[in-house]
Amino acid sequence: MSENQSRLFFALWPNQAVRAQIENSPFPRLKPNTTPRENWHITLLFLGPTTSSQRIKFEQAAATIQARSFTLSLDKFGQFGRARVAWLGCSQPPETLIEFQQHLESALRDACPDHTAFKKPVQPFKPHVTLYRHIKNKVPEARISPVEWNVREFCLIESRPDQRPVYRVLSKWQLETD
Ligand code: 2AM
Repeated sequence: MSENQSRLFFALWPNQAVRAQIENSPFPRLKPNTTPRENWHITLLFLGPTTSSQRIKFEQAAATIQARSFTLSLDKFGQFGRARVAWLGCSQPPETLIEFQQHLESALRDACPDHTAFKKPVQPFKPHVTLYRHIKNKVPEARISPVEWNVREFCLIESRPDQRPVYRVLSKWQLETD
């Protein structure tokens, strides 16, 4: 990544109350510890290294998105096998979220089709909050008492590599409520 680039991604970013609910929810406790609470989020689209002029195009495209707010019921604990990642997700992701994410991805692609994020196929969207990385043993999927998250906005986040990644919210856009 060159000096004038930042590593960016779009995400749903929980407020402190939702973070606390996740922390207190009955997901399996594993070793090593969970990812840091302040880093929990749902990635909508990972962009990776992005210049400031590309960032402006993405922000302009994000601002055109019209989508309704929705409620996520985080009720499922699961694992992405090969990545050794365990997560909290939804047994039934709301259609509003799936449509919103597709709409966002296509608007971002149209805004900046030459960006490296679109050079190879974007991975299918599987909404999840990563709770563990580098887990050693396979963990069974489990339904848990749900965390209800009223999602009213989406964000552009910068990721800075450190001993653990440090995330910073750069911009936010509101979803439509009644
Ligand atoms: P993950 O939580 O499932 O690991 C910031 O890195 C966020 O973007 C993470 O939530 C990560 O998902 C997601 N992401 C998706 N594709 C990525 C990639 N190629 N490199 C790094 N992070 C990626």
